[in-house]
Amino acid sequence: MDTIILGIESSCDDTSVGISLNNTIIANVTANQDIHHSYGGVVPELASRAHQQNIIPVVDAALKEAKIKPKNVSAVAFTSGPGLLGSLLVGTSFAKSMAQALGVPLVEVNHMQAHILAHFIENEDMRPPSFPFICLTVSGGHTQIVKVTSHFDYEILGQTIDDAAGEAFDKAAKIMGLPYPGGPLIDQYAQFGNPEAFSFSKPKIEGLDYSFSGLKTSILYFLQKEVAKNPDFVHNNLNDLCASIQKTILDILFKKLEMACEQVDINEVAIAGGVSANSGLRKRLKEHVEWNAYIPKFEYCTDNGAMIAITGYYKYLQQDFANTSTLAQARKKLV
Ligand code: KG4
Ligand code: ZN
Repeated sequence: MDTIILGIESSCDDTSVGISLNNTIIANVTANQDIHHSYGGVVPELASRAHQQNIIPVVDAALKEAKIKPKNVSAVAFTSGPGLLGSLLVGTSFAKSMAQALGVPLVEVNHMQAHILAHFIENEDMRPPSFPFICLTVSGGHTQIVKVTSHFDYEILGQTIDDAAGEAFDKAAKIMGLPYPGGPLIDQYAQFGNPEAFSFSKPKIEGLDYSFSGLKTSILYFLQKEVAKNPDFVHNNLNDLCASIQKTILDILFKKLEMACEQVDINEVAIAGGVSANSGLRKRLKEHVEWNAYIPKFEYCTDNGAMIAITGYYKYLQQDFANTSTLAQARKKLV
């Protein structure tokens, strides 16, 4: 019998609902929140309110796109964390009510696990990695090198001790006066710039952990100095600045990723999370001759309901169900 999971993602600023039919996706609808652009970052209070407004229309749209009726849903999956608490509460409460109204099981999903399991959505453009593999999960809130030995077994080999990679992109963009989220804009401008034009300091952290806060400070001081001499400096050099900043972030990411793969002797390497949409990162991974690279479809990189539905599907197969007292957890850990 077919299994149909409705997955709800509301951990940050995107309200997204995905519907899976076994291990395929038959709907993935996202309402982005433009409201945060002018604030230079996500405003938690506004995000929760926008989720409240969006959630019913997005669920309706996903059911329409999938051409299914609510009574055909086998289980409702939802992101319980990590994320912004007010945002998580909207999805959590909605999922509980929907599961109860339909009389179907409720499945709790860890957002970071879902980014990784997006690789297991069956479609013609992607083949899943084989176990064990290394996943570099790079998002707005997390940067982790994870050893994945099964759908449910993870070991974090390294992670950021301060800012996440996506945060480094967004903060650098903000310093240059670009709107939030700056990551995709840096990616766009970088394509026309010289990555060697400017150099920024790189962290000297032992082991497999990352640090990105020093880079932000290095960019800030450099630009303050240059803008004092020439107020048009950023405008005149935007492409080169973006290309150089992007290259520095990718150099930092790859250095530890290469070390990790060598240490555990694994050459199956996947990327996941919002920053895995970055064209420079995707290209560099594809060109890495020693690795079998796994790159998610663009729509499964940034936050999406499809990854919640597919994770819900694998947990459903294990009969791993939540109950109605399950709490949203802002700081939920992967392991
Ligand atoms: O996974 P995600 O959608 O949300 C979180 O779980 O945080 O990741 C969002 C992050 C933001 O920091 C955004 O700037 C970054 O992913 N991002 C990118 C690109 N697209 C999204 N960063 C660099 N290049 C991109 N093309
Ligand atoms: Zn995410």
